[in-house]
Amino acid sequence: MSEIGVFEFQGKRYEFPVEIGTENEIAIDISKLRSKTGGVITLDPGYKNTGSCKSAITFLDGEKGILRHRGYPIEDLAKRSNFLEVAYLVIFGDLPNKEEFEKFEADVKKNSMVNEEIKDILDGFPRAAHPMGVLSSLTGALTAFHPRHAGMYSEEEMYNSITKILGKFPVLAAWSHSKNEGLPLSYSDNSLDYVENILMLMFKIPTTKYEANPIIKKAIEELLILHLDHEQNCSTSTVRLVGSSHASLFASISSGVSALWGPMHGGANQAVIEMLEEIIEDGGDVDKFIKRAKDKNDLFRLMGFGHRVYKNFDPRALIIKESAKAVLNELGVVDPALKVAKHLEEAALSDPYFIDRKLFPNVDFYSGIIYRALGIRVEMFTVMFAIGRLPGWIAQWREMHLNKEPIGRPRQLYIGVNERKCVPMSKRK
Ligand code: ACO
Repeated sequence: MSEIGVFEFQGKRYEFPVEIGTENEIAIDISKLRSKTGGVITLDPGYKNTGSCKSAITFLDGEKGILRHRGYPIEDLAKRSNFLEVAYLVIFGDLPNKEEFEKFEADVKKNSMVNEEIKDILDGFPRAAHPMGVLSSLTGALTAFHPRHAGMYSEEEMYNSITKILGKFPVLAAWSHSKNEGLPLSYSDNSLDYVENILMLMFKIPTTKYEANPIIKKAIEELLILHLDHEQNCSTSTVRLVGSSHASLFASISSGVSALWGPMHGGANQAVIEMLEEIIEDGGDVDKFIKRAKDKNDLFRLMGFGHRVYKNFDPRALIIKESAKAVLNELGVVDPALKVAKHLEEAALSDPYFIDRKLFPNVDFYSGIIYRALGIRVEMFTVMFAIGRLPGWIAQWREMHLNKEPIGRPRQLYIGVNERKCVPMSKRK
């Protein structure tokens, strides 16, 4: 490596090594900046230019609209693989052969029971509690029921924690939904595959036998794969940061769920449907809302539009848009929200404000329309995202431990008051 990064400051020249990734991405390694310069740090709010780690999991080119996991294009994985298979790929590095897959699936299924006492915790939540809050809490609660899984980082110990959370997370997700609906809590059925089991947990009513509709199964499988990993986004960085303190996998994932919940991140899928409904209720004047989105004095943003990394079409959004059309057709659902969404997309994509800022529909723009057509309530949309993202969080947490990364601890630029004396309360004005 011959390249170096040069930084000149106060008449002195400092050199820093340059690293080049396997896709020719370039990074200046400034890890010695502070010690070499005697205190200078970088300032990068929102980490727009900061690489927090080296990773071999996901490659993303936001300018070209490319997304690959372990080298495989997302388009191929979404069409040709099943969710658990892609989970294995993302976590362990290669697509599994038949034997590896069967062992992995069996190990995940072995762990699909949830401690009965977790139901007592669930009972403590109000019925209207948002399922993401409940899911984050119940995932955190796993640390209390499986304390041995904290601070274990041999490959075997990590594998045990990984299969445990993959087995239990869909059950906890479904229970957060059942709580909302006032339904009894279901248990996993290990005769089903991973995604069929998720559907059964979500949709089964005790009085009827549940059989997954193949159209629904295919759509959900594809959606889960499309959400599986997206390199160092907000929730994934949270999982890595929490995990870097050697908190357990369960505690780290619980934090990831909370980070995903926000409407700027995974919560956007719920926010998109709420926005589309607002537009319909308001009379359907799309241009009025486009105008509002452009107005800097109005807090309204076009939800499901824009992305920190994609400055081109989000490749996942392209697949989901086609899938939304197909699902609605096949199920015979007519959703006025789809019409408004298409109109909104057309209007935005031909508007200089969105063109200049390279704002395109993201993964969340059309996913809510599919979830709604499948009968999933709006508060559960981000939970579905979390089920999809779980293997990605796991893979990133595992990679961080295998790479023996140090604890994450950013610096800051202090802009507060300089030293002053503390006066007794009686003497304060
Ligand atoms: N509607 C209107 N204007 C927007 C939007 C939007 N959805 N997104 C960005 N902009 C504008 C900003 O106001 C800013 O304008 P300016 O340059 O005149 O100040 C410019 O585009 C750049 O936007 P930033 O907010 O600086 O971009 P950032 O990378 O920080 O934010 C984000 C990305 C949070 C996704 C943003 O586009 C947004 O809020 N989108 C709506 C929420 C959403 O859909 N989130 C889901 C993202 S996908 C995911 O997390 C799974």
